[in-house]
Amino acid sequence: MIIANFKSNGSKEMIDCWVKDFKSQIQDNVASVGVAPPHIYIDKFYKSISQNDLENIKIGAQDVGAGSGPNTGSISSAMLSDLNCNFSIVGHSERRKNFKEDNALIKQKIENLISFKLTPVLCVGESLSDFEEKKTYTTIRMQLEECLKNISIPEDIIIAYEPLWAIGSGKTPSPNDVNQINEYIKDVVQSTTSNNYTPKVCYGGSVNVENAGSFFKCSNVDGALIGGASLDGKKFALIANKFNRNN
Ligand code: PGA
Repeated sequence: MIIANFKSNGSKEMIDCWVKDFKSQIQDNVASVGVAPPHIYIDKFYKSISQNDLENIKIGAQDVGAGSGPNTGSISSAMLSDLNCNFSIVGHSERRKNFKEDNALIKQKIENLISFKLTPVLCVGESLSDFEEKKTYTTIRMQLEECLKNISIPEDIIIAYEPLWAIGSGKTPSPNDVNQINEYIKDVVQSTTSNNYTPKVCYGGSVNVENAGSFFKCSNVDGALIGGASLDGKKFALIANKFNRNN
């Protein structure tokens, strides 16, 4: 899946413009596209794509609370389901860093999403210092084990490998490195989940129109999670077209 993460960007006007731009470039098969606007614009986005006959786009959230009830300001899985969402990103490094979210909380969110039949898109990835100290594999294994230990995946889960040093920096690991890490992620998730589930694994971090194709050629790269380049509907459509051509 090619997923747009708008982060804390956008407006009603931007969404109408984005949908028109996206529609002007996207080729026929849009089945593998997901968009995560800010929560407050999910309904607006849904209406805008319906008006433009783009029903195949899956809509998701950038994050979700761990449950319903006394949690002021939090959006629950039940609400996402009520708004026809299909997935939610969890464990994004910006949530881990800026909102101090740990693996135990992320695990609760995943279990809650699963109970509402929503697809978790779990982000994992190493920091620059982990990368420099060659701790990429150890860090990722710990994140996956703590977030998924003994969970059964009845439908699906997507893992997004996002090295922190690549997010918004213009730097990326080589496609070959991503391919090997994604293969490792599949193995770890398979041995960690109670039903030995093999997930789809995306890459995220400075993906753009120019470099996307080099990642999509890799056998273990099942899609991308895109921040900056997803804010332009035309660019995002061009990336999705490249992915659809490779699959
Ligand atoms: P970026 O962000 O594409 O702007 O690097 C990716 C992400 O944070 O998901």
